[in-house]
Amino acid sequence: MTEDEKEIAEQIASLINPEASRSNMLPRKAEEIHMAIQKGRGFVIAENGMVICFVAIYEWPRYLEIGSVVTREEYRRRGYASRLINEAVTAAKLMGDKPIIALTNPRSTRLFEALGFRHKPRKDEVQNGFWEPCKQTCIDYGRWPKCHCTFMQFFRSE
Ligand SMILES: CC(C)(COP(=O)(O)OP(=O)(O)OC[C@H]1O[C@@H](n2cnc3c(N)ncnc32)[C@H](O)[C@@H]1OP(=O)(O)O)[C@@H](O)C(=O)NCCC(=O)NCCS
Repeated sequence: MTEDEKEIAEQIASLINPEASRSNMLPRKAEEIHMAIQKGRGFVIAENGMVICFVAIYEWPRYLEIGSVVTREEYRRRGYASRLINEAVTAAKLMGDKPIIALTNPRSTRLFEALGFRHKPRKDEVQNGFWEPCKQTCIDYGRWPKCHCTFMQFFRSE
């Protein structure tokens, strides 16, 4: 990891993890973010070295997840997340036929709906009310079973 890349990944983690501790999203380590960027699966808007918005694609055995969507607080409601989610969806479509999904929270649901995602819970995929990769992330971060995430599983329609 170069110092610049490390700095960017750490900035992104520092945007994500306070939101994660408020249960708005799943936590991520800077190393995971860096890996996503290196694989071409991390999408960043930055201004003078300051990260404004980030979105990642995470690959699961059966899904491609659009995740870690975060915009720096003072830059919200300007269309940055929408722009990067659309970019990520375009890239995910080129990665194959797996369904494209997102785990949303009550505040981000409308945004994903506006971008073509639809709530479509799949009971067979959910264990104890949690979607398996979501649960695994909470286990990795020592939150399971005391996590309080209120995520909904969304599928991109088409
Ligand atoms: C959710 C989040 C990523 C949205 O980021 P954002 O950059 O503000 O997203 P956008 O600007 O694309 O869209 C947000 C809203 O602003 C509206 N908007 C977009 N451009 C706008 C503009 N120029 N003027 C006014 N409103 C605008 C959108 O229509 C959308 O409206 P909605 O609240 O009805 O859905 C951001 O609020 C955030 O980081 N939240 C904390 C982390 C989080 O919850 N992440 C989601 C995990 S699933």
